[in-house]
Amino acid sequence: WHKVILAASSDYFRAMFTLGMKESNQPFVNLPFLLASELEVLIGCSYSGILALSWSCVFEITSTALQLQYQPALSMCLNFLQQEINPQSCLDVASFANAYGMVQLLEVAEDFVLRQFQKVACTSKFKDLPAKQLLKYLNSLSLCVPSELVVFRAVVSWIQAKPKIRLRLAKELMKTIHFPLMTFKEFKEVRNQNMWSEHSLKELYETIFEDFCSIEVAPQNQCRIYLPKESLVLIGGDQISEDLGTRSISRDLWFGNSLRNHMGIKKAMEWRKLGEMPDPARFGHEVAVLKGQLYVIGGKQYYGVDDTLNSTYRYDPLRNNWETLAEMRERRCSFSVVVLDGKIYAIGGHCDPEYRDSVERYCPATNSWSYTCPLDLPLSGHVAKVLQGQIFISGGLNNDYLCLASTFLYHPERGSTYLDNMSKPRAYHCMETLGGCLYVAGGMTTHDNVNATDQLACEMYNPAADSWTSFPPLPVPHMGAGSAVLEGKFYVLGGYSQEDYSDMKMVHRYDPATQQWENMGKMPGPNNDIRATVLCLPTSKVLLKNHSSLFATSKVLLANLTVLNGRGLR
Ligand SMILES: *[C@@H]1O[C@H](CO)[C@@H](O)[C@H](O)[C@H]1NC(C)=O
Ligand SMILES: *[C@@H]1O[C@H](CO)[C@@H](O)[C@H](O)[C@H]1NC(C)=O
Ligand SMILES: *[C@@H]1O[C@H](CO)[C@@H](O)[C@H](O)[C@H]1NC(C)=O
Repeated sequence: WHKVILAASSDYFRAMFTLGMKESNQPFVNLPFLLASELEVLIGCSYSGILALSWSCVFEITSTALQLQYQPALSMCLNFLQQEINPQSCLDVASFANAYGMVQLLEVAEDFVLRQFQKVACTSKFKDLPAKQLLKYLNSLSLCVPSELVVFRAVVSWIQAKPKIRLRLAKELMKTIHFPLMTFKEFKEVRNQNMWSEHSLKELYETIFEDFCSIEVAPQNQCRIYLPKESLVLIGGDQISEDLGTRSISRDLWFGNSLRNHMGIKKAMEWRKLGEMPDPARFGHEVAVLKGQLYVIGGKQYYGVDDTLNSTYRYDPLRNNWETLAEMRERRCSFSVVVLDGKIYAIGGHCDPEYRDSVERYCPATNSWSYTCPLDLPLSGHVAKVLQGQIFISGGLNNDYLCLASTFLYHPERGSTYLDNMSKPRAYHCMETLGGCLYVAGGMTTHDNVNATDQLACEMYNPAADSWTSFPPLPVPHMGAGSAVLEGKFYVLGGYSQEDYSDMKMVHRYDPATQQWENMGKMPGPNNDIRATVLCLPTSKVLLKNHSSLFATSKVLLANLTVLNGRGLR
């Protein structure tokens, strides 16, 4: 009876037992390449559907499963390798995938290496990396490093693992480091590196030192360009003209093509235009991503009372086309949207002068909206997010224009369940899920329900403890900003100040690992009541090296650079 299971699970055994090979009639079959224990594990897996995997055995089992084309076990192994990949194992996974010609697994592994480079470079396995592969990583535009020092340290530790044979590669490796971007403090570590006492490296150090000191930096060295795997996309919004005379509403979509690390800690997002959404231009709208496609829903097309929208559009980034979908049953702006189980929920919002408590759900299969259980109260300027399969809603304004501190779970059939309140009321804020928690930043707050001010304080909700705790405040107000999570960091984009209604043109991002807000440069256009999301764009859009734009900005940068050369002050 094992035979049937074996034949069903494995192409190898199926061929052996069904294609009239002599083994199909033998009571015993010799499998000299296989350990009894390995076969036992695989057969057990076919019966139970369980395969106990760990890093100490997964490569062996995967290789056996591959030889036998043992499908059930193979897919479990591949899942394990992709999902459990970590800085200690990623280089092993990459070399395994390479050896067995597993293209997709190799891509996952190399991607991990590049995006977690700082951690990977500290592992012992890193020191065994072949030179060619190391250079490939160091020259990649997907190499993610917080500073050039990280690259320098990695190169030094790799060389020092086998100095005799690797010192002569030092020159080529050092070329991948952008020394002019280092601060004096960072360069001090380079200078103090005892490797330089090596006679053969004296000249190299002098070149590096000159490079660091030079004022006229070659364009390709003015910043390190990093291409994220997915792109931040900005949709719609409005902005005030330069003379502060008029406001304009936008149809534009922008995407962050690359991140640029300039000197020291100076960073910037390089934005490009992705396209335009169909008429009308809108702000206070909502966006969602479902199956890689972008949905743009509701909002306002102008500042009057009758300008709230119910229209819904879908954008397919691969085909670069827009589709008009069914309209919402109600017109909404300043509402919130989530995606849960393949459906889109539009929650609350307002349509002057009314605030809405209704919730409706969009089903892509039927292209229709239908009502689900309403909220307990009309709500606008709140944020809803999905965490662990549940919809969490924080803050907002009720229809007396009172700012709320409440947090609750919303269930489409069962309605609301209240949770721990935020420490202060908040509306028109940003909320994102990150690492199993909800992070809240920006927006406004009220004091004794009388006067409204910008809210700089930030807080984080832990569902396991049902409690909010604070994290470092934003450096500037961001009310009505867009937000998104890209590569484990919380981006807050644009918005304005509630206190003086000035536009906020900046992008900030919070890194939970360093617990710091970083300034990520300026917004490309509109910034108020704008929406942001993360999309996977086709590579034809993401231009690896657009020289014309690189050089256009480089002139400006060069001008800035001369000023910035007072980096010693840092
Ligand atoms: C959407 O709003 C327009 C007016 O702005 C209205 O004519 C139309 O009937 C609305 N659609 C639905 C489904 O209610
Ligand atoms: C929670 O917040 C709501 C809305 O701001 C408020 O009405 C309620 O009293 C708060 N509850 C507690 C326990 O503070
Ligand atoms: C508004 O709130 C701020 C901050 O608490 C306070 O300093 C100010 O006096 C308040 N203004 C009024 C009119 O209540």
